[in-house]
Amino acid sequence: MKRTRKSWATVLHSSLIVLALVGIAAAQAAAPMGGDPVANRQRLMKLVGANWADIQAKVKAGTPDAVAVNAETIAVMATHVPSFFPPGSATDASGAKPEIWEKWADFQAAAKTLESMAEKLRDASRAKDGAAVEAMVKDFGAKACGGCHTAFRKPPKS
Ligand code: HEC
Repeated sequence: MKRTRKSWATVLHSSLIVLALVGIAAAQAAAPMGGDPVANRQRLMKLVGANWADIQAKVKAGTPDAVAVNAETIAVMATHVPSFFPPGSATDASGAKPEIWEKWADFQAAAKTLESMAEKLRDASRAKDGAAVEAMVKDFGAKACGGCHTAFRKPPKS
């Protein structure tokens, strides 16, 4: 099939549109929700905290099989955590320490630890292995949450 001048122009035109769309997608990845990044990540963290509280309450109530949905929610949120910390978003209202951006790879690793620990918890719950769920919940707070908060979060104001 012969290409006409017009069809090349069309190809070029659509590639430019694709490039523009990729650019928009990249910008959105950097700022997932728009607006105030500090307020956004505090909303995200509050939800992580609410899911963690739910997990502990369910284990206490003797229903470890029911924590899979919360653990999966935390795992998915963990994959988004770094994108909620754009460079230059440390403010007085934020509990984020400047170390986040100085040791970015360590910060990403801490988010990854949360993700993989939450996935293991989810899998144990789905497998109805109550004993494993209970054992994991015992040090989840210190390792999965504390592993990041200790290094990267200012002590909460009392
Ligand atoms: C990869 C790092 C990281 C991990 C993992 C992490 N957090 Fe956070 N968290 C932060 C940072 C940083 C802040 C402070 C954010 C700010 O104020 O800008 C924060 C803030 C919070 C807040 C306060 C939100 C607010 O309203 O100000 C809660 C609650 C919280 N985290 C709960 C948790 C729980 C529960 C876990 C584990 C299940 C967890 N976080 C895991 C980094 C993390």
